[in-house]
Amino acid sequence: MVSVKLENIKSLEFLKDDIEKLEVFLSSFCNSLEGTLKEDVSNTLIAGGKRLRPIIFLICAKTDDYDIDSLIPAAAAIEIIHTASLIHDDIIDKSALRRGRKTIHKRYDKDTAKFVGDYLFTHTFSLLNTYRDPDILMEMSVAAQNLVKGEFDQLKTKGNLKQDEGVYFRKIDEKTASLFKVSCVLGGMLSASSEKDIKNMRSFGKYLGYAFQINDDLIDLDYKRSAIEIGKPIGSDLRQGNVTLPLIYASREKGFRSGVKRLLIKDKILESDIKEIIDLMNNTNAVEKTKEKLGSYLDKAKAMAGRISGYDRRKGLEQVCRIIEESVSSKGAGN
Ligand code: IPE
Ligand code: IPE
Ligand code: MG
Ligand code: MG
Repeated sequence: MVSVKLENIKSLEFLKDDIEKLEVFLSSFCNSLEGTLKEDVSNTLIAGGKRLRPIIFLICAKTDDYDIDSLIPAAAAIEIIHTASLIHDDIIDKSALRRGRKTIHKRYDKDTAKFVGDYLFTHTFSLLNTYRDPDILMEMSVAAQNLVKGEFDQLKTKGNLKQDEGVYFRKIDEKTASLFKVSCVLGGMLSASSEKDIKNMRSFGKYLGYAFQINDDLIDLDYKRSAIEIGKPIGSDLRQGNVTLPLIYASREKGFRSGVKRLLIKDKILESDIKEIIDLMNNTNAVEKTKEKLGSYLDKAKAMAGRISGYDRRKGLEQVCRIIEESVSSKGAGN
């Protein structure tokens, strides 16, 4: 198999044409908007993004009756709500770069970014109403509530190095895995899959979502990569005091805790402080432990994929896991 970089996952051969259709749909949605909203929405939605959530949605819908045109509104709704969450997340994280472009709150102001995010959030539900199915609307409503709750809990637990792994996993289950789960479940529902398949898809989405967020936490520590390469700033979690899994593991060591506390209580955390924290972390086994945990969730996701009926779905989901796996092995905290 030819290896695909995580950033290029949307060029997967068996999905390329379908993702192209999604891009056309998203562009025409942007073009249908008026005035500044058109420019503001296009700025983030069309800027790029891996389109991973619509990809797993489409794979889960790949049965013999697969009809891409009828699936596009849901694929777009999934990508649009994800984009809305990023626009709001960037306000909270005070982040200046997203998908390689200046974030909306930096380009304009916070109020503009809040409204653009709200507009996209609400548009998701109009698109999903295409299917006239209350269960679909309910699934997405619950996912959206969980996403917001996870982000809220993250805000409330900022800088608390004593939080345990359980708190972290509850947060990522909500802020990240909720959208992965609903993407898979909607794929199952819109392809009239069995309850058993949908249950396994939900578990697959959960485990893949965990692995994906843990990987994202590692990327944030990887000073060997550049913001330009990944399209968003490196070191953002540390700058914001977001307690990620590597930080939780490193904080189990007293030496690290005391070294880091001194840096985190500073009024302004400098780039040199961030590098110092990463150096301190590299004196512990935190990155290694984090990678192990990530690997264990990818294994669980693969096992779940293997239980889903239909060759295309199983192979497609396993391939997504492999691409994430390959993108992990070479990096982490400047190693
Ligand atoms: C970023 O998601 C938010 C996280 C859950 C880590 P992605 O890494 O999928 O962002 P895009 O869509 O490719 O920009
Ligand atoms: C964000 O997690 C998850 C969302 C629900 C938006 P992160 O804060 O880690 O995402 P990035 O790193 O900014 O993309
Ligand atoms: Mg963020
Ligand atoms: Mg992150």
